Amino acid sequence: MRFDVLTLFPEIFPGYMSQSILNKSIQNGIVEIHIHNMRDWTTDKHNKIDDRPFGGGPGMILAVEPVVRCVRDVRAMDDDPGVVMMMTPSGQRLCQPLVEDFATHHRRMILLCGRYEGFDQRVIDILKPIEVSIGDYILNGGEVAAMVMIDSLVRMVPGVLGDELSSWDDSFSRGNRMLEYPQYTRPREFEGHNVPEVLLGGNHSAIEKWRLQESLERTKIRRSDLLPEPNNESATAETPNTKSET
Ligand code: ADE
Repeated sequence: MRFDVLTLFPEIFPGYMSQSILNKSIQNGIVEIHIHNMRDWTTDKHNKIDDRPFGGGPGMILAVEPVVRCVRDVRAMDDDPGVVMMMTPSGQRLCQPLVEDFATHHRRMILLCGRYEGFDQRVIDILKPIEVSIGDYILNGGEVAAMVMIDSLVRMVPGVLGDELSSWDDSFSRGNRMLEYPQYTRPREFEGHNVPEVLLGGNHSAIEKWRLQESLERTKIRRSDLLPEPNNESATAETPNTKSET
């Protein structure tokens, strides 16, 4: 999977890209991330990329010309022109099914990160990007949203996570549209708080049943919107292939 990130703040990314799972996937060539500074596509001597909005109003708007030229040049850097995505609070809201959809259909994604009051509308009219929001709040720019996109997408790439099935069980993922059950590790007791007995007994079917029940309870209480029908246990999870089969 290849990402090309178009930003005015390329310095934001190296720290994130050097973290463990992502860094390893980049090192072994499973994931490529290329950061491009849109300002490099300006032609005036002050490298001006933004301007005041026609009609007045606060803030500055990212200009159409350098952005469109930047996207066209970046698209041409690989045989696969990829898909252009714009990080914007006006976009469709990112959720796990959308992440899975993107990961299934796109090998290369060009992520446009806005700043200031956003892009000139003609950037959208000309490039027709998929507009994506990571939630109903306003960030200072699209960079954090682009990192969220990358982070959620690389987990879907075979070989990125140690165990091929370990993203299957994530909350909201294909195998599980419910919240995660509680997890424990040693010690068995801490300040009077004990690990549930069922997890210590080695009875795998009892453990599985307990976990499913905990997931269901949590989801009912915290996120009943995730359950297809009220309290519909049978509709909550497809059964993934068993680990031994893959
Ligand atoms: N840019 C600013 N806010 C954003 C959001 N919520 N999602 C995506 N991009 C953004």
